Amino acid sequence: MIIGRCGDYESVSIFAADLVGRAISKKPHGVFGFATGSTPEGLYKLLVARYQHGEISFDQMTTINLDEYVGLPPGHEQSYAAFMQQHLFGQVNIRPESIHFPEAGPDPSEFDEFIRNAGGIDLQILGIGANGHIGFNEPGSSFHSRTRVVSLAESTIRDNARFFDSPDDVPREAVTMGIRTIMNARKIVLLASGAGKADAVARCLRGPQTEEVPGSCLQAHPNVTVILDHAAASKLNDKN
Ligand code: GLP
Repeated sequence: MIIGRCGDYESVSIFAADLVGRAISKKPHGVFGFATGSTPEGLYKLLVARYQHGEISFDQMTTINLDEYVGLPPGHEQSYAAFMQQHLFGQVNIRPESIHFPEAGPDPSEFDEFIRNAGGIDLQILGIGANGHIGFNEPGSSFHSRTRVVSLAESTIRDNARFFDSPDDVPREAVTMGIRTIMNARKIVLLASGAGKADAVARCLRGPQTEEVPGSCLQAHPNVTVILDHAAASKLNDKN
């Protein structure tokens, strides 16, 4: 695991944009996994700028998103599809038919098969929840889990309420790529910023590998780069 330590959120975004931009240039027809949340917003802004300057192109890639709320009406402004449209997809030359989100249909795990048939994820971007979740794999998620519908933890509902008019409006369920699905990606890039993530980062990177801390599975992945700002790295207690 490579840990990139940056001073602040802006440097995390630049570090991530360099890494992801290089991966896109190297394999423009690759399968790229995107995440939502406030953390990757800076990265997406920089990727859009690089596209506008003609440095990278999105027209050959396949995109896979990590998760989506269940129960929001299509096009709802807080849906993750709308988020991606606003922050990245709507501003670059991605072909609409190459955009894929997990769906809460009769068998959500068909998404795993779809990913396999597409050649597997070349690079998966991840954020992290304050409780250590990745995607919407909440504490207790099996390390063998596939794409499925999950109930959101109360703490996640509280954390995500900032995006909605009231906590009551936050969906109680989501469909998420499983831990196994995420671990099958060839490369993973995890971003974290701010003191609110310091505990989760320390538990995921330095604590025991346990399903109670979903992100701790990443310790077993052969190709992970973690990009942290000073505050998010503040509880790592080492100099690596
Ligand atoms: C959300 C998403 C995750 C995201 C996390 C952190 O609930 N399901 O994919 O990584 O929470 O979000 P933020 O970056 O806004 O802190």
